[in-house]
Amino acid sequence: MKQAKKDVADTSFLQRMWESIFRGPLDPQTDRERKLMVLDSLILHLHPTTIAERTLKLTLTWGLGGMATLLTMVLVFSGVMLMFNYTPSPDQAYNDILNLQTQVWFGQLMRNIHHWAGNLMVVVVVLHMLRVFFTGGFNMPRQFNWVMGLLLLLLTVTANFTGYLLPWDQLAYWAITVGTGLITYVPLLGNWIQTVVLGGPEVGAATLLNFYSLHIAIIPISLLIIMSFHFFRVRKDGGVVTPRAPDEVLEKRQPKVTTVPHLVTRELVVGLVMMIALLLFAMWVDAPLEGVANPDVSPNPAKAPWYFMGFQELLLHFHPFVAAIILPLGALFTLALLPYLEPDMDATGVWFRSNKGRLMSVVATLIAIISTPILVITDEYLLDFVGWLPSLPTILSNGFVPLALLMLAVVGFYELMKHLFRASRCETVQATFVLLFVAFLILMVIGIWFRGPGMVLMWPSEVGVSH
Ligand code: HEM
Repeated sequence: MKQAKKDVADTSFLQRMWESIFRGPLDPQTDRERKLMVLDSLILHLHPTTIAERTLKLTLTWGLGGMATLLTMVLVFSGVMLMFNYTPSPDQAYNDILNLQTQVWFGQLMRNIHHWAGNLMVVVVVLHMLRVFFTGGFNMPRQFNWVMGLLLLLLTVTANFTGYLLPWDQLAYWAITVGTGLITYVPLLGNWIQTVVLGGPEVGAATLLNFYSLHIAIIPISLLIIMSFHFFRVRKDGGVVTPRAPDEVLEKRQPKVTTVPHLVTRELVVGLVMMIALLLFAMWVDAPLEGVANPDVSPNPAKAPWYFMGFQELLLHFHPFVAAIILPLGALFTLALLPYLEPDMDATGVWFRSNKGRLMSVVATLIAIISTPILVITDEYLLDFVGWLPSLPTILSNGFVPLALLMLAVVGFYELMKHLFRASRCETVQATFVLLFVAFLILMVIGIWFRGPGMVLMWPSEVGVSH
């Protein structure tokens, strides 16, 4: 009796709660016990039975990978619910959405949850990528999983983009018209690819059907397959990186704890908090819906979805081939090659590589915050490469010439930071990444809030949409 009481006192409250709810004895006698054992082994399919105690720290992963996983489940569930009340045809789609919002029990809420979860997923996946980058989680042996992650990021954005069209309102119609317009700048094959994607020369019934099939079947299935592989690789690569202080050398054998309940209870808490926040937000803020799509009336300005606005802003400064093709593809390839080009194992698990790396990242952020708006304004009012170089084709005068100058500035930044801080290669690469990433975020902000009719620069209070 005394021993039993002592055992109970030795276990934490959460552990006792967990055991009373989920864990049965090892030799299951009843149906319930058998079911609980199955649940346990399901969890242990995703996780190893034990993990390094240090990796439990919330500030290592912020639970972002898990949040992305949970959001995928929420999106699949709410998406299937919406399918009960949706027909992918231009005559019916918009009315179905109106009907869903006004006639169907919890229809508006379900649409809101799906809409906001989709947008949150883009944010969470990007944050997860940043977390992996800044903790050196892409170094060997995880480099291939990093590339898989980039594929997941592309799929996440494409899932959102294809879903954007489905309500068939003005916002959807023109955002997709602008977004798919970028495809035409692919050399030689651009027009052909655009026709295949749209199912014709412009956004219409065939586009809606194409996007619907991609959105409800092809992308989710690909996402689930690659996600499973992503999880499998995390386990194969020895779990997530082990966090450590900048100058700390880790012992080979780290103290371990069991996954159940230590990791799983933490995952439950993060998941619950996210679900509650999502639900409250979806209860308060409705997903936008404008008037029915009208191909004859284009809003001014017609803007792409928010996550493409950085590229739409770049289009105002560079030839479209550079803004819509070279820069995004260049960024993607550089990111994919990063772990192969910069294999600095010493920094794995250390946030921002080192204290110096952290300081350099702050400096790079400040430089980006100051220089990006200055460059945008200078280009808007002072620079005129096409006028200055009239004998050159615009792809050179407005494309490769400013691109070369930009690259020169980036290389200059790299060399200056390396020299000033006497930094290692990986610290300097990180600072350069921060510079470019923050600059892109600022371009996005300018595109979303500081561009009005005719895409003219103006203060957010003056930005309106005219038709
Ligand atoms: C649908 C999108 C994604 C899902 C559901 C997902 C899920 C996860 C989960 C659950 C983990 C382990 C725990 C954690 O780190 O939070 C993880 C780790 C990892 N993820 Fe992702 N991920 C996604 C996208 C990405 C992206 C965009 C990248 C990078 C480009 C990426 C690269 C990695 C890497 C390299 C690891 C191992 C990191 C380490 O060991 O610290 N993932 N992911």
